[in-house]
Amino acid sequence: MRSSEADKFSAIGGSTCWCFGRKAVGDWGKSSWSIEEMASNMSSSLASIRSAYDMASAAYARKFIDELNHKPLDRELLERFAGLIGAGQPVLDLGCGPGHTTAHLTSLGLKVTGVDLSSKMIEHAASIFPQSCFEVGDFLCLSRDASSIAGMLAFYCIVHLTPDQLFPAFSEMFRVLRDGGVLLLSFHIGSEVIHAENFLDTNAALDFTFFEPSQIETALAQAGFAPIEIRIREPYESEHPSKRCYVFAHKPESMT
Ligand SMILES: C[S@@+](CC[C@H](N)C(=O)[O-])C[C@H]1O[C@@H](n2cnc3c(N)ncnc32)[C@H](O)[C@@H]1O
Repeated sequence: MRSSEADKFSAIGGSTCWCFGRKAVGDWGKSSWSIEEMASNMSSSLASIRSAYDMASAAYARKFIDELNHKPLDRELLERFAGLIGAGQPVLDLGCGPGHTTAHLTSLGLKVTGVDLSSKMIEHAASIFPQSCFEVGDFLCLSRDASSIAGMLAFYCIVHLTPDQLFPAFSEMFRVLRDGGVLLLSFHIGSEVIHAENFLDTNAALDFTFFEPSQIETALAQAGFAPIEIRIREPYESEHPSKRCYVFAHKPESMT
């Protein structure tokens, strides 16, 4: 099975892929919109993301289930993440897709639940990794109590957020993390949005947003995270030529 980042983007390419500026996707900063209008836009966009990943789930699982085998830095950072959190501690793998990172963290001793918007993706994850836990959920509105989780992984799941959704997303992660908890997230560096009409040849339509590290760092800091550690790497030769960013964001220890 092939399993590189290049596959993710060649698959996005298909026959009808193009790039355009963020503003074309939706002006989330428009100040005259009411909360209700914003909520309605966000939920319709969530519905389309869910439906796209339902359509693409089998193809996604086939392509990416083994990708950690070829990603030494990802494995190193996941090991560090597991070490910071400690064996047996509760962790959420947000936007877990077919569950390969959930299973990897489970093998490192963490008590992980993979969470994904797409029920089809969760069905695949649960059948491929029956020893791991998975559930359908939305990381913008997690079904967890405040301060109940020791760690959160968010690998490439923020790629469908608009810039104005970063702060609410990180605030929700901050709410659910315990004091001293750790968030590890990854994303593609850039300032463009790539629209795919035929993601993984499944006819699924999706927008992929790239972010600058400073943008992510600002939104994380606004949500309360400190310290924030950023690691950037060049793409591997076989990958799409975008730099990758990995962020360890810590919820401060309680001051009381
Ligand atoms: C690009 S895939 C990344 C999957 C996996 N983490 C990986 O690294 O291969 C994005 C995943 O995030 C999920 N997702 C997108 N928005 C979400 C949300 N608001 N809540 C939960 N999952 C979401 C999608 O369904 C999809 O499985």
